[in-house]
Amino acid sequence: MVGVWLERRNPARGSRWGGVNRAASALLLAATAVWTKPAATCADLLARGRELYVLCSSCHGDRGQGDRQRSAPAIGGLPQWYVEAQLHKFLAGERGYHPDDVTGLQMRPMAQAVHRGDDLQAVAAYVASLRPQPWPRTQHSGDTTRGQTLYATCIACHGADGKGNEALKAPRLAGQADWYLIDQLKKFRSGQRGAAPGDAMGAQMRAMVNVLPDDNAIADVVAYISSLRP
Ligand code: HEC
Ligand code: HEC
Repeated sequence: MVGVWLERRNPARGSRWGGVNRAASALLLAATAVWTKPAATCADLLARGRELYVLCSSCHGDRGQGDRQRSAPAIGGLPQWYVEAQLHKFLAGERGYHPDDVTGLQMRPMAQAVHRGDDLQAVAAYVASLRPQPWPRTQHSGDTTRGQTLYATCIACHGADGKGNEALKAPRLAGQADWYLIDQLKKFRSGQRGAAPGDAMGAQMRAMVNVLPDDNAIADVVAYISSLRP
C-alpha cells in the first residue's frame, strides 16, 4: 500500500528515475511488511469478523440473539472488551474447565477456532457491532420485589440499569436471557466458573454470589434483572 501511494505521489514517475524510485518503494514496502504489521482498519476487522461469525451463528443465531435449545446466550451487542475477555478465558481454560460444565466445554473449542492472528479481536468487534436483540420471554418466575432488594449489592458493579461497567469489567446483564443468568450464577456458586487460578474477575464475581443464599434468591434477583430494559 505504501508503494502504491509513493508511486501515485511521485512526480518523477516515468522518468529515468522512475525505476530507481519504484525499486525504492518496493524495498520500503518489503521493509514495512517485515517491521510493522500493517494495522487492519476497522472495516477490515469487521469484514473478517463477519466471516468468522458464520461458525458462531450456528449456536448464537445470525443476529447474536442466542438459542435456548443450544444453551447459547445472547451475545449481540455485548461490548467488545467483554467478548474478548471471555473468549480469552475459554482459550486459557479459565472458563469451561470443569468436567461437569457441559455448556462451557461446548464453547471452548469455538474460542480455539478464532485464536489465530487478529481473529479473536475481529469476531469480538463484529459481535459488538450487532444490535442487542430483545429477549422475547422469560422462562422462570421469581419475586421481583425481593429480587430488587437483592440486586442492591450488584449495582456497584453492574449498574442500577444492569448496563455493566467497563472499568470494573462487569458485563451488561439487562437483556440477557433469564435461564442463562440463572445457569451462570449457579456455576459461580458451585465453582464451575470463577474458580480457575488466574481468573481474578471471575473470583470477584464468585465472592458476590454469597449474597444469594439459595436457588430462590437466584431466581428472584434474575426476575428483577429481566425486568430491566437494556
Ligand atoms: C456449539 C455451539 C456454540 C458455538 C458454535 C459458539 N458458541 Fe459461544 N457459547 C456457547 C454456549 C453453550 C455458551 C455458554 C457457555 C456457558 O454456559 O458457560 C457460549 C458462551 C459464549 C460467550 C460468553 C457470553 C457471556 O455472556 O459471558 C461468548 C462471548 C461466546 N460464546 C462467543 C462465541 C463466538 C464469538 C463464537 C464463534 C467463534 C461462538 N461463541 C460459537 C455455544 C456456542
Ligand atoms: C465487585 C463487582 C461485582 C459485583 C458487586 C457483582 N458482580 Fe456480577 N460480575 C462481575 C464481573 C467482573 C463479572 C465478569 C466475570 C468474568 O469475567 O467472568 C461478572 C459477571 C456476572 C454474570 C455473568 C454474566 C454473563 O454474561 O455471563 C452474572 C450473571 C452476574 N455477574 C450477576 C451478578 C449479580 C446478580 C450480582 C449481585 C448479587 C453481581 N453480579 C454482583 C462483577 C461483579
